[in-house]
This record gives sequence, C-alpha cells and structure tokens, in this order.
Amino acid sequence: MISFKNVAKRYGDEIVAVNDVDFTVEEGKIVVLLGPSGCGKTTLLRMVNRLESISEGEIIINNENSKDLDAIELRRKIGYVIQSNGLFPNMTIEENVMLVPDLLGWSKKDKRGRFEYLMKLIGLDAHDYGKRLPHELSGGQQQRIGVVRALAADPPVMLMDEPFGALDPIIRDKIQEEFLQIQREVKKTILFVSHDIDEAIKMADKIVLLRDGEIMQFDTPSKMLSHPKNEFVSQFFGKDRAIKSLSLHTVEDLQKIIGLGPVDESIQDTKTINIHQDLRNTLSMLMNQEADQVIVKNDQNENIGTITIDLVQKYLHFEIKGKMSASQEG
Ligand SMILES: Nc1ncnc2c1ncn2[C@@H]1O[C@H](COP(=O)(O)OP(=O)(O)OP(=O)(O)O)[C@@H](O)[C@H]1O
Ligand SMILES: [Mg+2]
Repeated sequence: MISFKNVAKRYGDEIVAVNDVDFTVEEGKIVVLLGPSGCGKTTLLRMVNRLESISEGEIIINNENSKDLDAIELRRKIGYVIQSNGLFPNMTIEENVMLVPDLLGWSKKDKRGRFEYLMKLIGLDAHDYGKRLPHELSGGQQQRIGVVRALAADPPVMLMDEPFGALDPIIRDKIQEEFLQIQREVKKTILFVSHDIDEAIKMADKIVLLRDGEIMQFDTPSKMLSHPKNEFVSQFFGKDRAIKSLSLHTVEDLQKIIGLGPVDESIQDTKTINIHQDLRNTLSMLMNQEADQVIVKNDQNENIGTITIDLVQKYLHFEIKGKMSASQEG
C-alpha cells in the first residue's frame, strides 16, 4: 500500500509542483497518475522512493513512513521502471536483470532460477537472451527487460514512469496486455505514470487526474468517464468519452444487454473474435475491414453469434450514453 497524506512539493519559494495531494494505492492495485505535461506526475513518483524530498505531508509505504526508512534500502524494496528502460549498455541482459538480487547477495542458484522465471513471463528464452547486450534487443524487448528487472527481487511496490511511452502503438498495446497478465500473477502495488488517456483507462484500477500539481479527480476509469467531477475532467477526456469507455466493456456485456446477431453459415472467410474482447477494439476491427459481420466465439471456440457496427452503436447509445446523461440529470 502507498498512501499520500496531504503531500506538497515546492522548488524554492516560487514553484509549487505538487499541492495537497491525498490518495492511496491499495495493495495489489494499479493507480495511474494522469495529466498534462508539468502537472507533477514524475515528481509524485520520485517522492515515493525519495529521489525527491517531500516539502509537506507524508508518504506511507506498507505502514512505514517513507522518511523513517533508509533511502538506499527503500529503493531496493521498490521496483522502478523509467521510460528509457535504463539498462546498462555494457552489462548482459542477465546481469542487468539480476542487479538488485546481486546487491542483496542472492546465491547463484537462486539468481539463475529467478532469471529463468522472469524471462518466461515475458516469453524470451533465458539461455539465448541472457548473454546478449541491451543493444542486441529490439526496443520492445528492452522495455520488457526493464520491467522484469524492476520485478527481479520481488518488491511489493513498483513505480513505473511512462514505461511504454517510447514504443510504437502496436507493440505498446501488446506489452500493456502482457504486463496486465503478469500483474494478475504477481499482484504488485503499482503507481504508474502516463499521459496517455487510453493507456490509463486500460491499465488503471483507479486514476489520479492531476492539473498544476492538484488532484482534479481520483476514481475508477469508468466512474471518471461517466461522472467527471468538473469541467477540466470532462474536457480532458474529451467529447468522445463515450467511445473511450467502450474499452471497459466486452462483447459479452453487449450480448447480455442487446444480444448478438445470427450466424450466416453461408458467408465464407468471416473474421472471428472472442467474447471477452473489449468493444473498443471490436469497433475498430469492424471499421477497418470490409466484412459486414464478425463471428463471436466463446471459450470453447464455438460460434455463438455475430456482431456488427449497428449493434455496437446501439450499445453505445443505450448503455453508455444513456447512463452518462442520466447521471448528468441526477
Ligand atoms: N528540479 C526542479 N526545479 C524546479 N522545478 C521543477 C524541478 N523538477 C520539476 N519542476 C517543476 O515541477 C512541475 C512538475 O514537474 P514533473 O516533472 O513532475 O511533471 P510531469 O507531470 O512528470 O510532466 P511530463 O508529463 O512532462 O513528464 C513542473 O512545473 C516542473 O517544471
Ligand atoms: Mg514526467
């Protein structure tokens, strides 16, 4: 757990980078710090592992006040991933990943076992990649290594500052999925910085939306999209809030509320999607291809119906926009 209690950060007399910030990242959850450039995201993150001092208030990490902890020890206990992966160019991948376990004096056997486990998580062969240097990997692979390096000594808490920011959209999407998959297994307490709305909606259990160092809203992605607390929040998520929130709903949700279309077995070459696919991806898939229908498969790989743009529109209109306008009236 990480708790910010009325935290402020000033640089000199003039600059207030963070003001009266108060929120908690519950154990095993991901909180995303979101907001425009300069709003204080990185500063907040760096105060947790004491790379920045705290001007006012306090930060409690798993029931201990960060100021009572030794800074070096604190950093060892907290995994930290930065945008430019931060790998050491002259060290092999295995040496890079095992840096903290090495500092902690782990045995050779324990380190090797851990390295193999971590490489498996990201689908890279430990034997082959372990001996390579960072520049012998693609950008996406390097970023994955940055992530598992932060996980190496199994820290309960992770800080991630735009860890996937430098990647192109397709790789980025993949790594986000992969990371969420890993998180389901490792259940770390994570503070994650992003300035990308889609990434925040996808990754966050809760979002802290900041402006000029102050919290505008602290809520779940779906609450923030459907019940923005003020003009800044609704502007920030934009007019297509409704479409963005499609990513929080699945084909199965649509099936339950308005039902799927019938399967026309005579049509050849139709594309298929899984029932757990989110509706935003489904919509873009429908818009990017010529086929009128996409067949929906359940987990047993059976065809259970079809989905069309019309159905997604209907769902958007009644289920999402309907609820948004109801909440504005009430
Ligand atoms: N060392 C410093 N001295 C003075 N001001 C600073 C210092 N570091 C940060 N600031 C100021 O504090 C504010 C918050 O900066 P911060 O780096 O936390 O923003 P950010 O939200 O991470 O932005 P970005 O999205 O661009 O990374 C900014 O106004 C910045 O100019
Ligand atoms: Mg930053």
